[in-house]
Amino acid sequence: MHRLLFLPIVGAALSLGPVSSVASPEVPPQRQAELIHLLKHDCGSCHGMRLEGGLGPALKPNRLQNWSPEQLAVTILYGRPGTPMPPWRPFLTDSEAFWLAQQLKQGLQ
Ligand code: HEC
Repeated sequence: MHRLLFLPIVGAALSLGPVSSVASPEVPPQRQAELIHLLKHDCGSCHGMRLEGGLGPALKPNRLQNWSPEQLAVTILYGRPGTPMPPWRPFLTDSEAFWLAQQLKQGLQ
């Protein structure tokens, strides 16, 4: 329940930045490559190397269409308490989580 308290805070913080799915100035290209690596390996260990599901659900655009990028970023940052989905707050900034959420919404190649 208290997780919902984070939504307005993160939403407000995220909405301050430019929302561009192609080139995000807050996440430099070098870091973007690291994040994609993280997505395929660390996230992939539960969600599948191709994000088609495993211990965690598939992270494909059609499955995520009901979530906004902000909601997905909150899930990535804070995890899902009571499930194996861990919080990534220690490793990712808000912008980085939001960028990853946008990649998931678009679909990785
Ligand atoms: C230890 C296993 C594990 C790892 C590692 C993991 N996840 Fe998850 N993730 C889960 C599980 C299990 C769920 C489903 C939680 C639930 O039941 O609501 C989930 C749910 C999600 C969801 C919500 C999807 C939905 O349809 O409800 C997103 C988005 C997500 N994870 C992204 C990520 C990202 C991005 C990473 C890497 C930064 C990651 N996860 C790493 C286990 C994991």
